[in-house]
Parts: sequence; structure tokens; C-alpha cells
Amino acid sequence: MHKTAIITGASSGFGLLATIELAKNGFNVIATMRNLKSKDTIIELCKQNNIQSKVSFMQLDVTAKESIEELSSQLSNLPSIDILINNAGFAFGGFCEEVSILEYKEQFNTNLFGLIAVTQAVLPYMRKQKGGKVINMSSISGKIGFPGLSPYVASKHALEGWSECLRLEVKPFGIDVAIIEPGSFQTNIWTKGKKIAQKSTFPSSPYASYMKSIEKELESGKSSYGDPTEVAKLIVELCSKKELTKLRYPIGKGVKLTLFLKNFIPWKVWERIFHKRLNV
Ligand SMILES: NC(=O)c1ccc[n+]([C@@H]2O[C@H](COP(=O)([O-])OP(=O)(O)OC[C@H]3O[C@@H](n4cnc5c(N)ncnc54)[C@H](OP(=O)(O)O)[C@@H]3O)[C@@H](O)[C@H]2O)c1
Repeated sequence: MHKTAIITGASSGFGLLATIELAKNGFNVIATMRNLKSKDTIIELCKQNNIQSKVSFMQLDVTAKESIEELSSQLSNLPSIDILINNAGFAFGGFCEEVSILEYKEQFNTNLFGLIAVTQAVLPYMRKQKGGKVINMSSISGKIGFPGLSPYVASKHALEGWSECLRLEVKPFGIDVAIIEPGSFQTNIWTKGKKIAQKSTFPSSPYASYMKSIEKELESGKSSYGDPTEVAKLIVELCSKKELTKLRYPIGKGVKLTLFLKNFIPWKVWERIFHKRLNV
């Protein structure tokens, strides 16, 4: 029997591409998105690949209680739910001193609490069927702090800690948990999905020149951002495995090396490299 995967944030980027790649590989995919008007691109790609019957749609805003409740009730109609891909997320930037608590909460509501709520809705079904996979989309920002990105970095670090606990708790029920840690890829997250704390956009901000250096660095690196299909293919690979023996799956140009160096290099050297590179 073909496995059923449910994915959050399927309207664009990794979520959209993973939906198509999974369907092409025989999975039944429930593509969820907060606005179903965004499903047209997926429908068109499904037609082109003749996989219309493999994809169905569900409205899901991971931060909305009613939306999660509706998801729970819909899940009871499915014969099985084998894979959950917690992909929905966005990036909030700004300097620690200038990001309001409300802005931090907004970031955590989606990237952490939304992911927890969706997982809690799905787990009872996976436990009953004695198996399943939960794949959480983290980031290199889940392992490394970057200046000007503390809301995103903190939310992804929290996601990593929560996922470690979850893995240890649900493994005895036959459920595998994995974390994907992409570097930078060409999706909407750095344009449409990126928000910046208002105070950090003011020219009068004490961090204004620091922000300029970061923007310059980001701009110069853009051409080397990876092809998001690579991440979609990794998702298919993980979904196709019998068992996920590893917890973490870093992906992207230089990501494994950077993570290794972060653990290896003393902090004072790491910090010097960062500041030198940003010219601050
Ligand atoms: N691209 C990268 O370089 C990169 C690197 C590391 C990690 N990631 C992670 O990859 C994941 C996917 O991002 P992406 O790069 O593919 O960016 P994207 O194209 O902006 O996709 C983000 C998706 O999340 C959805 N979303 C945001 N808030 C939501 C909510 N409250 N409820 C449901 N869906 C919501 C968006 O829906 P709307 O269309 O409604 O906004 C969109 O479908 C994120 O978790 C991100 O942190 C990305």
C-alpha cells in the first residue's frame, strides 16, 4: 500500500517541491497550506506529471487552534498517516535589543508552537498504528547563531531541542523523528517570508551600520544559494527509508563543514572570524 504523507506549508518552496517529488515517487500527499487559493501551482505541476490522484489539499494555518482541530477531525477519516513533514515556517530578523517580545512570540508561534500543535494532532494516529515518521524542517540556524536573526535562530534551536526529546519519547512506539538542517536555498523565505523588527529598519538604530554589513554579506552570497529541489529529494529519501537511524540531516553547500568547524573551533576564534567577515 502506498504511504500517506502530510506536509505543512506546501504553498511554496520546499513544501511545494516536496509535494511534487513525493507524489512522483508514489506517496499519497496531503498538501496543507493556510490559503487554499495558493494551490494552483501544485495542481498545474501535478497535471504536467500526471500525478493528480496522488495529491489532496487541506487548509491548515499551524498557528490557528480551529485549523489544528479541523486537521485532527480530518485525520480520523484516513486509513493511515505514515509521515508528517513539519515544513511551514518563516524567518524573522532584527537585533536582540530591538525585537519586541510580541515579534519573538510571532516567530515562535509558527516555527515552534505551530509545529508542536500539528505533531500532537498526528501522534495519536501514529502511535495506534505503531509506526510513522516525523520530519521537522530546522535550519543551519538551528545549530548556529547569526547576528540580526535571533528570532529565527532561537525558534530553530528550540525546534531542535524539542525534536531531540520527541525522538527519545516516541521511538519505543516505532515512530522515527528526524531533523533536516538546510543552509541557504533559493525559496521565498528571504523575500516574501522574511520580516524584520521595525526598530532595526530605522536609520537611527545603533545597529544600522551593522545591519548594512549583514545585508551586503547576504546579497553577495545569494548567487550561491542552493537549488531547493535538493531538499525536496532529501525529503523523499527520508520518507522512503525503512528506518531513520540518524536524527539530523544537514544539507547545502558547506553546511556540514560549517557545523563541524562550529563544534571544533574555540568560540573566541569563531567570533573573530564572524566580525572580521562582517567588518564590525
Ligand atoms: N530556504 C532556505 O534557505 C531555508 C533554509 C533553512 C530552513 N528553511 C526552512 O524551510 C521551511 C520552508 O521554507 P521555504 O524556504 O520553503 O520558504 P517559503 O517558500 O517561504 O515557504 C514557507 C511556507 O511556510 C508557510 N507558512 C508560513 N507560516 C505558516 C502558518 N502559520 N501556517 C501554515 N503555513 C505557513 C508559507 O505559507 P504562505 O504561502 O501562506 O506564506 C509557505 O508555504 C521553513 O521552515 C524554513 O525555516 C529554509
